[in-house]
Amino acid sequence: MITFNQKTKVFTLDNGSITYSFLLNEEGFLETLYYGPHLNEELSKESLRGGDIDNCSTEYFDTDSNKEKTFPDHFKSTTASLEIATHGYLDKRGAPIIIQNPTGSYQTSFIFSSYQIFDGIKELKDLPGIRTKKKDCETLEITLQEQEAPVKLVYSLTIFTGFDVISKSFQIINEGEESLHLLRAFSLELDLLSSSYTLNHFDGVWANERNWNRNPVVQGEQRISSNYGRSSHEENPFVFLSSTDASMTTGEVIGFNLIYSGNFTFRTFSDYSKSLRILYGLNDEDFDYQLAPRQKFETPIALMFYSSCGVDGLSVVCQQFIKKHIINQQIDHNYKPIIFNSWEGCLFDFNTDKIISYIKDSEKIGSELFVLDDGWFGRRNDDYDGLGDWHVNSSKIDLHRVIDYCHQEKLKFGIWFEPEMVNPNSDLFKKHPEYVLGYNHKAMTISRHQLVLDFSNPEVVDCIYQQMVLFLDEYPVDYIKWDHNRSIGEHYSSYYPFSQQGEIYHRLVLGYYSLLSRLTKRYPQILFEGCASGGARFDLGTLYYCPQIWASDESDPLQRISIQYNTSLGYPLSTIGSHVNNNPLTSYKTKAMIAFFGTYGYEMNPNNLKTSEVEELSEIKELYHQYHQSVVEDGVVYHLMNPNISDFVALESVSSNQESALLLLMNKLKDHDHYYSLKLLGLKDEYQYQNDLDNQVHSGQYYRLVGLRFSRSWFNEFNCRIIKIIKKK
Ligand code: DGJ
Repeated sequence: MITFNQKTKVFTLDNGSITYSFLLNEEGFLETLYYGPHLNEELSKESLRGGDIDNCSTEYFDTDSNKEKTFPDHFKSTTASLEIATHGYLDKRGAPIIIQNPTGSYQTSFIFSSYQIFDGIKELKDLPGIRTKKKDCETLEITLQEQEAPVKLVYSLTIFTGFDVISKSFQIINEGEESLHLLRAFSLELDLLSSSYTLNHFDGVWANERNWNRNPVVQGEQRISSNYGRSSHEENPFVFLSSTDASMTTGEVIGFNLIYSGNFTFRTFSDYSKSLRILYGLNDEDFDYQLAPRQKFETPIALMFYSSCGVDGLSVVCQQFIKKHIINQQIDHNYKPIIFNSWEGCLFDFNTDKIISYIKDSEKIGSELFVLDDGWFGRRNDDYDGLGDWHVNSSKIDLHRVIDYCHQEKLKFGIWFEPEMVNPNSDLFKKHPEYVLGYNHKAMTISRHQLVLDFSNPEVVDCIYQQMVLFLDEYPVDYIKWDHNRSIGEHYSSYYPFSQQGEIYHRLVLGYYSLLSRLTKRYPQILFEGCASGGARFDLGTLYYCPQIWASDESDPLQRISIQYNTSLGYPLSTIGSHVNNNPLTSYKTKAMIAFFGTYGYEMNPNNLKTSEVEELSEIKELYHQYHQSVVEDGVVYHLMNPNISDFVALESVSSNQESALLLLMNKLKDHDHYYSLKLLGLKDEYQYQNDLDNQVHSGQYYRLVGLRFSRSWFNEFNCRIIKIIKKK
């Protein structure tokens, strides 16, 4: 799969479906040759230079010989397509790595020194990575040397079997005797010869996450980034470029994601030449990492997903790759229980009897895992107190009785934590005010009445770990919802000196991972669900530890359908935490059908459910038991009608054996009595399938080319239908 041709000096990564190749030129720089569908012909320097003219090369003054020199092989560093651009020279398009070396110079330029190719991928020390077996992928590791300073760079590229995915990352190693400053440490550079792309990204705000935005790539610089200290509501790290003629099912689309949960930057740069440089990695705003002698810095892993079958083609690659290589299948491959969460039903206002009555009534609608959300610990009766004091408020709740009751009823039990936060009123803050970010500042930003704990300080992480272990060793919980209800204001840590304050944003994320990885190792049976004021940390770093993430605090089905539709372009449905609540805008059935196209659960006061509502929800519960695991969790979703641009929505999820599919249709507005033909995707052409809309039997090819005929006047506005399409035996 990965080769190096000693004669032509070309590296090629190829999995039979995609090819990526680059040249090691005579100067020791790596020049990108090709990225796209599998190519039979091997490329060479000649294919790159074409009819290049003599005086095209870069010139420089060589101090050893005291002479002006020219790069020997017509290499023009200012316009070439590169794997790792230089900084501080004449190429101004942007470099992935910037180092200020001990002399103070910013010049950064890495020259090839050696390479190795091996099966599998190496694990990162402090960061989440890719879950693989050796046979799943192959890695090319290239070692380069900085020209002015004793700094080694290890550039890793991995290509995967059966997935059109390539990952990239760097390690920067200080081999000198003095500290240096790492001012930028991105994970990926990709230079493309054309900039005729649309930049697709997902912006938002609390309760309105991941709006699908499309802008043309323009000349100059464009940045999609977060500086909120978490991956954020405001932008999601999943970004893609679609060629200007691409559709949902045709054309070239290249997706990018980062296995990371903190600040990130995705940057495109195009100049008069209309070529495109893409850089992706840790946000370099206020980033200044002091690399001590012999210290190594590892960047998060960046992923590139490739499709020549349009946006839905890309989506399938992302969904399948994430399920197989990011999510911990040991936890996730067990059946996903239907969750009942207490939050929207009673907020902080509960006692033991109320919770037991909730559990009892939640069973009627099929709840299999009861989650006690915020409010069970410290002095937490509102959001002014309690965060940081992770012991049960036994005057409010008898948690042993609640858990025993659940287990006796054969229900699992889950609990809520917000480990990275503290209230100024808490006992923890009174004892350790220095544990917060921005300690000693005259004013610290407060948000939802809470401050942020300094997780860059290992002692703070330890303190929370000890408290959680004390609790978890006593109370047998099956699930943890891990919340994070504000973004970072002061990224100052009193634990570190002046010279290391540029490390804090990154170290906070490392603290988050260190706590999560210690807890998931110690309690492998617990299912962790990520959450951050709704969906502000929906990212691959979190998914590595938590197989599902609460997608948004917005459960109004009209908005919710867009959030789930857009999120599922880059992430599998099995990861998208979604519940039915008591929002009065639509029927329970509609809300349940939408929540079904996610993890599925409930949040309401179950004591108030009418018999007819219990019946409506019970129908969906039956459907859940029959199809959710095979079609929604293990299947693949296709995006047939887009809620962002149409008043009708269609999502289709197909089981991995292609024997069953469920089609979610939603009328946002009512329409005339005329027929639609909805062309389905993902079915097997030669199978025969019966649909339960008109009970007709047709081949997969018929559904693909002719489509399913129906009229939108058959159901009302705000109404949903789930149509079953099942293979005839
Ligand atoms: C924000 C979450 O998104 C909600 O579901 C809930 O857990 C609250 N936090 C509790 O404070």
